[in-house]
Amino acid sequence: MPEIKQTPVANEPASNGAGSHSNDANQSTPKERPVAPSVAPRARYAHIVGWGRHVPEKVITNHDLAQIVDTSDEWIRSRTGIAERHVAADPKETSASLAVIAARRALEVADVPASKVDLIICATTTPEYAFPATACLIQDALGASNAGAFDLSAACSGFVYALAMARGQIMAGDAEYVLVIGTETLSRIVDWTDRETCILFGDGAGAVLVAASEVPGGILAVDLGSDGSGGNTLIVPAGGSAMSTSLETVSSGMHYLKMDGKAVFRFATRVMAASTRKVLERAGYTTDEVDLVVPHQANIRIIQNSVLNQLKIPAEKVFVNLEKYGNTSTASIPIALCEAIEAGKLKPGYKVVFVGFGAGLTWAACAIDWRTPVEKQAAGWWKNTRRQATYSAAAARSMWKRAVRWVYEVLPDPETPGREPSKETPEAPVKELAGERTKE
Ligand code: COA
Repeated sequence: MPEIKQTPVANEPASNGAGSHSNDANQSTPKERPVAPSVAPRARYAHIVGWGRHVPEKVITNHDLAQIVDTSDEWIRSRTGIAERHVAADPKETSASLAVIAARRALEVADVPASKVDLIICATTTPEYAFPATACLIQDALGASNAGAFDLSAACSGFVYALAMARGQIMAGDAEYVLVIGTETLSRIVDWTDRETCILFGDGAGAVLVAASEVPGGILAVDLGSDGSGGNTLIVPAGGSAMSTSLETVSSGMHYLKMDGKAVFRFATRVMAASTRKVLERAGYTTDEVDLVVPHQANIRIIQNSVLNQLKIPAEKVFVNLEKYGNTSTASIPIALCEAIEAGKLKPGYKVVFVGFGAGLTWAACAIDWRTPVEKQAAGWWKNTRRQATYSAAAARSMWKRAVRWVYEVLPDPETPGREPSKETPEAPVKELAGERTKE
C-alpha cells in the first residue's frame, strides 16, 4: 500500500499524528498492571489508497445515435455536453465483469492483495441478477476469500453512499480494507427507441480501495439524502415486486428506464449545490478552499448551474469527462476520479469533493482530505506474475467449490433414501465470470 502522507495538524504531535492516543499500557514498567481496557482507542481514518476503471471497447457516437432515433449531434452536445458513450456490446461484458477489471486495477495501485479485503460494496443500478449480489460474484472472481460482499442500491448516488458505508466500517474498527465499486451496463435497460433517455447513458466501472489509517485526513465528512416522493421521475417500473415481469410488461417496455428529464434536472441542480455546501461545512472547509470537485457526470448544464454558478467554484477545479462516457450512473465518479488523477488534477494535500444525485430520489456528497501519493508505481514482473497467479487460483478454487457442490447433489443422500440424485451438471454463468470473462 502506498504510504499516506501526513502533514502536521494543529494540536497533534507531528511525530505520530493520530497515534497521539497511543497505548500507554505498552510503556508500563514491569511492576505496573496493564490497563488496556481503559486506554483510549486509536483514531482511525478512511483513506482512498487505490483506484481503477474499465469501460467496454465499443463506442457509440451522437452521429451513430442519429441513425437510430430522431436526434442530432448538435442537440445532444448543446443540451447535455455528451459526444459519445461506451456500451457493453459483447454479451459477456456485464456489470460484474467490468467491475472485476476495475477492482483488480484498484488493488494493483494500492498494492494490496484481494485476500486482505474485508468488505466489498458494489453500487449498481444494473446488477447481474436480482440476487445473488453482484458484489459476491466480484468477490469470487477476485479471490477475496476474507471479504463480506453486498450490493448497494442508491442509483447514481450509490458510489458516494458506498464510500460513506466503507468509511463507517473502517472508523468503527470493523474493517481495514473496503473495496468500493460503481459498475453499470445501463445499455441493457435503456430503451433504444426513446431519444430522451438513450442519448444520456453509457456503460463502465470504477473502483476504489478504502483503507484504515492513523494518519489524519481521508474521507472527512459525508452527506446522504433522499426524497422518495420523486421516485417515479426516474424509474424502471417492471421487474420488481410492484410489477413483476410478464408478457405485458415486456411488450409495453416497462422493463426499460423511464425518466421525467425536466423534473430530474431541477432536482439535480438544487441538491448538488446544497449537498456540497453541507459536506464542506461538516469538514470545516470553505468553497474557496476546495481544490477539486468530482461531480456525477450526468449533464454539463447541471454541473454548470450547480457547482459553477451556485457555489462559484471555478471550472478548472471541476473535473468533467462526460463528453466521452455519458452518464455511467454509479461508475461516473470513480471513472472521473481515475481520469483526474491521470490528468494530474489531484495531489496529496488537496481538498476534494465528490457529489452525486440520482433515482430514489437520492443525493450524496463527501469531502476528502487527500493524502495518498498519486504517482504511478511500476509493478515488477514478479508482482504482476504473482497477481495473475492468484486470480487463476481464485478461478480454480471457485470451479472446485462448484464441482464439490455438484458431487453432493448427484450422490445419493443417506438421510433421504430413495431420493433421485440430480442429473444436472454444475451451473455455468458464475463459472464463466471467474475465468474467461474477466481476462483483460
Ligand atoms: N434529440 C432531439 N430533440 C429532443 C431529444 C433528442 N435526443 N430529446 C428531447 N428532444 C426534444 C423534446 O421532445 C422537446 O421537443 P418539443 O419542445 O417539441 O416538445 C425538446 O427537445 C426540448 O425538450 P426538453 O425536455 O425541454 O429538453 P431539455 O433541455 O430539458 O433536455 C434532458 C432534456 C433530458 C437532456 C435534460 O432534461 C436532462 O438532462 N435532465 C436530467 C436527466 C438526468 O440527468 N438523468 C439522470 C439522473 S442520474
